[in-house]
Amino acid sequence: MTPWAIALVVLAVPIGILLLSLLLFGPIYRALTRKCSENVRLDGKTVVVTGASAGLGKATALELAKRGARVIMGCRNLTKAQPVADDIISKSGNTNVVVRHLELSDFASVRKFAAQINAEEEALHILINNAGIAGTKNKEVASCGHELVLATNHYGHFLLTHLLMGKLKAGTSSRVINVSSALHADGQLDIEDLNFDRRRYRFEHAYSQSKLANVLFTKELARRLKGSGVVTNVLHPGSVNTEVLRRPNQALSVFLFGRFISPIIFRTETQGAQTQLYLALSEEGGCESGCYYVNCRKARSSRESCDSDLAKKLWEVSCKNVHLEPAEMIPDSRLDSSSSENPRDASQRRRIGHSDFT
Ligand SMILES: *[C@@H]1O[C@H](CO)[C@@H](O)[C@H](O)[C@H]1NC(C)=O
Ligand SMILES: *[C@@H]1O[C@H](CO)[C@@H](O)[C@H](O)[C@H]1NC(C)=O
Repeated sequence: MTPWAIALVVLAVPIGILLLSLLLFGPIYRALTRKCSENVRLDGKTVVVTGASAGLGKATALELAKRGARVIMGCRNLTKAQPVADDIISKSGNTNVVVRHLELSDFASVRKFAAQINAEEEALHILINNAGIAGTKNKEVASCGHELVLATNHYGHFLLTHLLMGKLKAGTSSRVINVSSALHADGQLDIEDLNFDRRRYRFEHAYSQSKLANVLFTKELARRLKGSGVVTNVLHPGSVNTEVLRRPNQALSVFLFGRFISPIIFRTETQGAQTQLYLALSEEGGCESGCYYVNCRKARSSRESCDSDLAKKLWEVSCKNVHLEPAEMIPDSRLDSSSSENPRDASQRRRIGHSDFT
């Protein structure tokens, strides 16, 4: 063999192996997706799904509509969302599906969205904080004055969850479900510099910080909601081929990956929606609280995400940054139930709370 031929073989073999494993990975990964097989109906229940015009949110909204729920889709682009809602109505045969404008990074928009629900709905049974954006190539500042990724993925949902808490408590056995990501484990949350004013902005850090914030918040919220009849869990949907990866203001590497690689190796949107559906529908999703789920099973989240001091600090900073009124805050039950309460009352209350969920 000539040296050229040898060089060709030496190059071709690893490239071939790489391509082959890429091609094999996808089907195997998809085949291992667990499916939410609950056959629960949701007639008479009201659900809110943020970011419901595409991806996981759309797949989730469709499935919940098929089960008879009233579905309120919170979307930032009504031109895009209305045809999606029409499609969901025709596929599910459920006409009780509405689209409302919601721009999570704009607190006035969040307040307007919540005010309409508070005025019109009797109760809310499931809130799925699904909307999310991936890191933008360059740092962007939202109208609320905070870095855009954290504002959308964290602050907006933080505010929304607070504003809807009254209606969630009015529903029996209500659930708040947060979509996070396994990338939360790479998240470094600098309480002093959440907006990347001092740290160098990198899109992957902005994303993983926001997803770490989601897990921290779920845990803190669960602690605060203990005994309230509302449970909250957080999940990683798996690696899913959605348009989040293909937005125009994306870092180029993410865009190219989303365009060419993720369709081959990632889960479909319907598959990606299974874990949030599981938490919305299963009995387990109604009685566990503060847990992290992957592929329809409870899993362990990163060590940093379990840091309850960090969660508490972030909670306090967030209350301030979204300008919550004192009356809108969710009190810390650990403070209320301190020395004055006798432990038997507390355990009784937990029991009552628990039976409400099931
Ligand atoms: C809203 O969606 C429509 C239809 O998909 C699209 O043409 C338009 O560019 C979107 N607007 C914004 C501001 O993204
Ligand atoms: C979800 O995440 C948001 C933003 O991080 C937070 O405000 C909210 O309390 C969380 N809710 C749940 C159910 O985890």
